Amino acid sequence: MGIDSVVSDIYARSVEALDIIRDYIHETPIDLSSTLSKIYRCSMFLKYENLQKTGSFKARGALYKIYKLARKGTSGIVAASSGNHAQGVAYASSIYNIKSYIFMPKVTPASKVNAVRSYGAEVIIYGDYFDEAYRKALEFAEERNLDFVHPFNDPDIIAGQGTIGHEILKQLGNVDIVLIPVGGGGLISGIAVVLKKHMPRVKIIGVEPERAPKFIRSLAAGRIIDVDIKPSIADGLLAKRPGDLTFEIVREYVDDVVAVSEDYIARAVYYLMERNKIVSEGAGAIGLAAVLEDKLPVDLEGKRVLILISGGNVDLTNLYRIIIRGLSSEGRLININIKMLDAPGRLKRILDIVYRYSGNIVDIIHRRIGEDIDVGYSVVELLIEIPSVDVRDRIVSDIRKLKEHGYEILE
Ligand SMILES: Cc1ncc(COP(=O)(O)O)c(C=O)c1O
Repeated sequence: MGIDSVVSDIYARSVEALDIIRDYIHETPIDLSSTLSKIYRCSMFLKYENLQKTGSFKARGALYKIYKLARKGTSGIVAASSGNHAQGVAYASSIYNIKSYIFMPKVTPASKVNAVRSYGAEVIIYGDYFDEAYRKALEFAEERNLDFVHPFNDPDIIAGQGTIGHEILKQLGNVDIVLIPVGGGGLISGIAVVLKKHMPRVKIIGVEPERAPKFIRSLAAGRIIDVDIKPSIADGLLAKRPGDLTFEIVREYVDDVVAVSEDYIARAVYYLMERNKIVSEGAGAIGLAAVLEDKLPVDLEGKRVLILISGGNVDLTNLYRIIIRGLSSEGRLININIKMLDAPGRLKRILDIVYRYSGNIVDIIHRRIGEDIDVGYSVVELLIEIPSVDVRDRIVSDIRKLKEHGYEILE
């Protein structure tokens, strides 16, 4: 089958999927962000799949795929994932009363293992890395004659994710630009197939982390390329290579794929939390990161732009780290080290300055002993959250004025 007939078939399946999964998913809200619209002089909408059942869009594809396997009379489902696919498959299997086995690598956070178990799936922790868990899962499925559900390179999974496209059409009507996170490419393929059918002029732009640029490299090379992946805040997008099906669809139906840095992914997560009161995981916020980092190949002015926030499953300890990183990269969290005479009341003068500018001390270390500290002096290391970027210069300037009183900022 040529790619166009594969795509028509996926479109038809997406229409069927919409009907099949309707009762088990939320039609997730779309909001116009007035602040972002003002900044970028466009109408910028956010669609919140982080509020989907299981905390991400993954429930959609899994529900449709497993519905079909259930009809065929499957004896059980196998999947490998340390993240959202695992929860989607476990949830969908529980809806259709099918036994599921989910292979997860040892590094998977306990919160994710527990979430998958809570849907009644059997979790098998195996291997140091995802690839080991994946290979074991395939072997297990073959030995026991069970059905392996691939996270993205499967027409039913793609069609299930494509139901988001139908929702966008219904909720928003016309849209000019859509920004979608890209891992293995199932999500963007499904949405592109549906939206391009109804609005051939819509620009579909994929966003992936600089730390896993598999689509950018593969599209540039004209063939599937394996990339070395590095850990990323957008851990849901760390596929090593596109699937053969998703590669073909993205090549034909997606207008561009861009990559963004870790700092901006962190800023986007933090921005959504501060401004929109929305908890997104790194992968989920990457479309906004591309806007904030100014990575888009198209002009947004006057356009109707939709950013898909694809998931919200983030470990709370990770979330804390991401927020700290987002704040520092925006200049809203500053680190100042000061050497000063070690005498009563000395530290207070510094704290008074911080207080004067409404700085909030996030962390403080006060050292009196160390090879780098002269006798009679101490060093204080401050991590301060400041209300706006310009406050940094004012705090630094006021501390510098205390030089003749024995205070020195260490660069
Ligand atoms: C939150 C989130 N967004 C986006 C994606 C990317 O989906 P795909 O692998 O279909 O490109 C994933 C994949 O796991 C994800 O978890």
